[in-house]
Amino acid sequence: TGHVTLDPGFTNTASTTSAITYIDGEAGILRYRGYPIEELAEKSSFLEVAYLLIYGELPSSDELWRFNDRVRHHTLLDEKFKAFFSAFPRRAHPMAVLSSAVSALSTFYQDSLDPFDAEQVDRSSIRLIAKLPTIAAYAYKTSIGQPLLYPDNSLGYVENFLRMTFGLPTQPYEIDPEIVRVLDMLFILHADHEQNCSTSTVRLVGSSQANLFSSVSAGVDALFGPLHGGANQAVLEMLEGIHANGDDVDSFVNRVKNKEPGVKLMGFGHRVYRNYDPRAAVVKKATGKVLEALGKSDPLLDLAMRLEEVALSDDYFVERKLYPNVDFYTGVIYKAMGFPTNAFTVLFALGRLPGWIAQWREMMNDPATKIGRPRQVYTGPTERHYTDLSSR
Ligand code: CMC
Repeated sequence: TGHVTLDPGFTNTASTTSAITYIDGEAGILRYRGYPIEELAEKSSFLEVAYLLIYGELPSSDELWRFNDRVRHHTLLDEKFKAFFSAFPRRAHPMAVLSSAVSALSTFYQDSLDPFDAEQVDRSSIRLIAKLPTIAAYAYKTSIGQPLLYPDNSLGYVENFLRMTFGLPTQPYEIDPEIVRVLDMLFILHADHEQNCSTSTVRLVGSSQANLFSSVSAGVDALFGPLHGGANQAVLEMLEGIHANGDDVDSFVNRVKNKEPGVKLMGFGHRVYRNYDPRAAVVKKATGKVLEALGKSDPLLDLAMRLEEVALSDDYFVERKLYPNVDFYTGVIYKAMGFPTNAFTVLFALGRLPGWIAQWREMMNDPATKIGRPRQVYTGPTERHYTDLSSR
C-alpha cells in the first residue's frame, strides 16, 4: 500500500487548499478573504461578513439587502419542530440540543439536501443562518421553562436573537444597542478560522457527499469539546473555581505547570498562533467597555487579567509560546450579557456557522475534492490464529 506519513493531530498536514481565511500564526495575523479581522470587527456587520465568507466578496448594498431579506424570510421553525425541544430533559446541554436540532433540519427541509444543486445548497445555507438563532433561543427558553417567542423580523439579526433569548411575551424587551453591537462583533471574530477541528469535521463529513445540515451538525459536535469551542465555558468555570478558592492565582498556575491531570490554563494556547491570538486582543479591549456600558463589575475580569499577567511572565508559558486565545475573555462578556455558562459555546457556534458553510461549499465546488480518508500506521498483533473458547 506504499508509504504513509504519521502526523497525529495533523500538525503538519494540509488537508486542502482554501481561498477563504488566512492565518499567520507567528505574526498573529487573521484575514477573511484578505480583509484584516481588526477592520471587519470594527467596521463590518456579522451578516455582511457571512456574505463575504460564503460568496467571496463584500456585498453591494443591494446584495446585502437581498441577503438580509432572504435570511429574514427563513427565521421561523416549522411548528412541529417545537415539540422537539420539549422532548429533551430540561438540564440537557444546549450544544447537544443544538447539534440534534441542526441534524433534524434535514428531516424538515428535504427540498434543500442535494449537495450538487447550487440552488438547494444556497437555500440550505440561508436556512441555517436564519434558523440557528431561533434554535439556540428555543433551546434556552425550554431549559428555563419560558414560552418560546416567534422571531421578530423587523429586528436585526443579533437583536432578534437577543429578544428571542431574553424577551417575554408579556413585556417589551429593551435592547441595549451597545450589547447588540458587541455581540455582532464577537460573531464576526468567530466567523471562520480555516481548518480548525470543527471546520475540518464539517469538511470530512461533507466529503462523503452528506448534506449541509448533517455536515454542520457534526461540526457543532466537534465544537462542543473543551479543547475547542467548549473552552469558553471551561474558562469561566476555571475562573469561578479560582475565585472560590480565594483568588489564589499563583497556586493555580503552579498546578498547571505541574501538569496535574485535568488542570490546564483554559483559554490559553493555540495550535497555530505562537504569538498572540489577534481575536483575543479585540475581545480583551471590548470586555472592559461592555462591563462599563452595563454598569457591571465582575471580579472574574480582574482575576482573568491577573492570570494573564502571571502566565505571560512565567517561563512555562513563555517557552511554550502560550498566549490567551479567543475564548479567554469572551466568557466574561457573555456572562455580563446574561447568558448562562452552558450557553457560551452555542454563541461560538452561531458565530462559526458562516465559516462552516463557506468551507463546505468551497470543498463541494473544488474538482480536487476526494472523500476524506486518512491512513494509519498499524501497531496491533501480526497474524495469529483463532483458539476455541474452551481453551482460552
Ligand atoms: N495550559 C497549560 N499547558 C498548555 C496549554 C494550556 N492551556 N496549552 C498547551 N500547553 C502545553 C502542553 O502541555 C504542551 O506542553 P509539553 O510540551 O510540556 O508537553 C505544550 O504546551 C504544547 O501544547 P500542545 O497540547 O502540544 O498544543 P496543541 O497545539 O496540540 O494544542 C490547544 C492546542 C488549544 C488544544 C491547547 O493549547 C489547549 O488545550 N488549550 C486549552 C484549551 C483552549 O483554550 N482551547 C481553545 C482554543 S482557541 C479557540 C478554539 O479553537 O475553540
